[in-house]
Amino acid sequence: MTRTANPGTASPQASSEIEIREGLEGVTPGRVAVLYRRAPLLRPVSDPSKLRTMFERASLVLTAWKGSRLVGIARVLSDGVLYSFLVDLAVEPDVQGLGIGRLLVLSVLERCRGTDLLVRGNLGRLFRHEGLEVVTDAWMVPAKRTPH
Ligand SMILES: CC(C)(COP(=O)(O)OP(=O)(O)OC[C@H]1O[C@@H](n2cnc3c(N)ncnc32)[C@H](O)[C@@H]1OP(=O)(O)O)[C@@H](O)C(=O)NCCC(=O)NCCS
Repeated sequence: MTRTANPGTASPQASSEIEIREGLEGVTPGRVAVLYRRAPLLRPVSDPSKLRTMFERASLVLTAWKGSRLVGIARVLSDGVLYSFLVDLAVEPDVQGLGIGRLLVLSVLERCRGTDLLVRGNLGRLFRHEGLEVVTDAWMVPAKRTPH
């Protein structure tokens, strides 16, 4: 899926209490594993070294904080010129549906402006103001790996 720039609005419920931060500060494999397990998001949560690599090699990591609590996370792979790929988005279940996912998406769009943003999965409603298009010419060679 790709987007064209047209920023929408995030839910006021989330934006008043939630701080979006960029970078790896406070993003430990342990914290990420807890969030992914709860969300849930099927990732290698039992392997801290893999989780660390996934985050260190990401082009952009955005986190959502409610006070000192990590409640949401987004990871983007990007060449900074043509393409960005939002690969993982997760929000703590007790605060899902409050607009935190959308806040993270808007922050990703802002930082990836000028590139085509690709997204996998059923996240259409999170992008509903952004000119999202379904692409039919994308292909993938799935990795041969053991299930997480
Ligand atoms: C997907 C996810 C990140 C959304 O976060 P959230 O904070 O609950 O989302 P928001 O509150 O900002 O919702 C924004 C819109 O997206 C919709 N939406 C939320 N979760 C969705 C999902 N899993 N699939 C499709 N649409 C979803 C909401 O209904 C809302 O639309 P509406 O305003 O028309 O009602 C969260 O549900 C989650 O962590 N799910 C488990 C992990 C996952 O599936 N991640 C995506 C694959 S990488």
